[in-house]
Amino acid sequence: MNLTFALVGDVHGAMHAMVKELRAREKKIGRTFDFVAQVGDFEPHRHDEDLRSMAAPAKYKEIGDFPDFVKGWGTFPWPVYFIGGNHEPYGWLEQHPHGAELIRHCVYLGRVGKVEIQESLMLAGLSGVFVPELYTTKRPPLESFHSVSNKSFIGYTEDDVDRILEFPRPDILLLHEWPEGLTQDRKYAHRSAGSAQARLIIELLRPRLVACGHMHRGHHDIWTHDDGSTTELVCLAHIRARTEAVAAYQWDGTTMTRLDLL
Ligand SMILES: [Fe+2]
Repeated sequence: MNLTFALVGDVHGAMHAMVKELRAREKKIGRTFDFVAQVGDFEPHRHDEDLRSMAAPAKYKEIGDFPDFVKGWGTFPWPVYFIGGNHEPYGWLEQHPHGAELIRHCVYLGRVGKVEIQESLMLAGLSGVFVPELYTTKRPPLESFHSVSNKSFIGYTEDDVDRILEFPRPDILLLHEWPEGLTQDRKYAHRSAGSAQARLIIELLRPRLVACGHMHRGHHDIWTHDDGSTTELVCLAHIRARTEAVAAYQWDGTTMTRLDLL
């Protein structure tokens, strides 16, 4: 069993660019992808109403390419699994809290979700970001959209984290935010580049591979856990940044091998 797959950073509605980039990478490695996993801020807005349910300043509210894919003018050549970030049409995604194939080959993993791919690889994901005031409270019901702030829907909750911690060890874990402690980068020293919750989830679940986005820049690290197992961390840039926005791997059932895209 050999699976070849790509991890993709924030897309922010640029689905045509995403497909083009991934096609170019397939040419480079001489193989086609079996699936694609995306780290959130995908922005699949079907129409203005979806867009209105996204938390973002007005100047960032753009409909993006997704309507073309709904109409069939664009297609995803491989299954694309994604989690929610902090900029998403949660008015729509919340109708599928346990995940769904929204359109062909476009699979939302839900607030907390997992999928087994070809009985060989377990992909899991947690949607949203850590927001202290949302973490310990219940998420408002879907009916309250438009009467509460869109921001009320961007956070994961303690319940979500409890649920993901019940999963068996994932081969791949998607998180939107970086875990805390990944970088001492001076540019980001004034603010936390990641969350303690994300770090805890990684330490407890010990996935083979973790992909995250949100910061719109790349980073790569390997963590060794107390039991000697390791987690490879891949932080991905915005799809329009191109170079660090995509990573490709091969999975043979026991080993995850990163493929050179340069
Ligand atoms: Fe984000």
